[in-house]
Amino acid sequence: MKKVLILFGGNSSEHYISCKSAKSIIQNIDKKNFKYEIVGISYDNKWYKFNDDLSYLDFHDWLDANVLEIDNIVSYIKNFDVVFPITHGTNGEDGKLQGMLDLFNIKYVGCNTLASSIGMDKVMSKQLFKSLNIPQVPYLMIKEDYKVENILREIDFPLIIKPSNGGSSIGISKASTKKELIKGIKEAKKYDNKVLIEKFIKSRELEIAVLQSKGKIIISSPGEINSANEFYDYDAKYANEKTYTTIPDDLPIEVVNKIKEYASKIFTGLDCKGYARIDFFYDELNNEIYVNEINTIPGFTSISMFPKLMQNEGISFSELITILINNA
Ligand SMILES: Nc1ncnc2c1ncn2[C@@H]1O[C@H](COP(=O)(O)OP(=O)(O)O)[C@@H](O)[C@H]1O
Ligand SMILES: [Mg+2]
Repeated sequence: MKKVLILFGGNSSEHYISCKSAKSIIQNIDKKNFKYEIVGISYDNKWYKFNDDLSYLDFHDWLDANVLEIDNIVSYIKNFDVVFPITHGTNGEDGKLQGMLDLFNIKYVGCNTLASSIGMDKVMSKQLFKSLNIPQVPYLMIKEDYKVENILREIDFPLIIKPSNGGSSIGISKASTKKELIKGIKEAKKYDNKVLIEKFIKSRELEIAVLQSKGKIIISSPGEINSANEFYDYDAKYANEKTYTTIPDDLPIEVVNKIKEYASKIFTGLDCKGYARIDFFYDELNNEIYVNEINTIPGFTSISMFPKLMQNEGISFSELITILINNA
């Protein structure tokens, strides 16, 4: 029986979402076929064995549960056949953790160090998408010095501003005026020195799940985000109950095929392993498709898109976890 280590948390702005994803995985992992232990990583990068009521994972307080600090992390992880990192965001999804596991020859679910770090960095991802000839919205990157006039000379309002390294829409804002632009850059800089400015495109948001299974690649049909807010911000993602996701049946077949083709190219081009969710914008009015981003540890909560899209392909949540672990 394979021994699996489920890792969650970490020093990331997406720590909280990671707890929720971990809970769904623990609830759905095939307990007859896998033995598992659960470890939470705190914001100060300490590792704790978690062995308590899963409801602690619903909130920020899992450290108040019955936890035991692990002194020697390396010798501890060597006890497992596979690590399942469900650590969204910085330090867990950006290749650092994956690099550490590689160093000690530990198998893990998902992308390797290089694909993870490129996937986490929106600017680097854009450069990769460009090299693969996948269409993207007009964008530019700024670091320390920038002039509002120079930005506006290249792209005009409305704009969207994002930290290059980030997720869960944290630090992202829309700007329709110079004042909002300056404020947005300041906000994004709280999370990363590299800031991305993009043309805000009114579009439908479509997401594709890609899964490797027995050497083959399964590419799902697109799922759609119907955001409660003007864009899919943190509130719309995790709090606002008016947001819902669907698997639309009104998309032209050419659009579906094109998006799937792009998703496949990106998964292969980035040399992804295991799984990834690749997100697109579809501007219906102008019949344009743009890639937005890749997520190498996609959300895995009970309502997340990735498991939903795989379910639509006939793969249950529990089977999905089994496939991921066996492919590690
Ligand atoms: N260029 C854009 N035009 C319109 N909306 C956008 C654009 N870029 C991002 N968004 C909106 O912001 C959300 C979060 O942006 P995204 O790049 O996906 O960052 P994150 O990694 O935080 O999910 C998207 O789901 C979308 O709703
Ligand atoms: Mg996104």
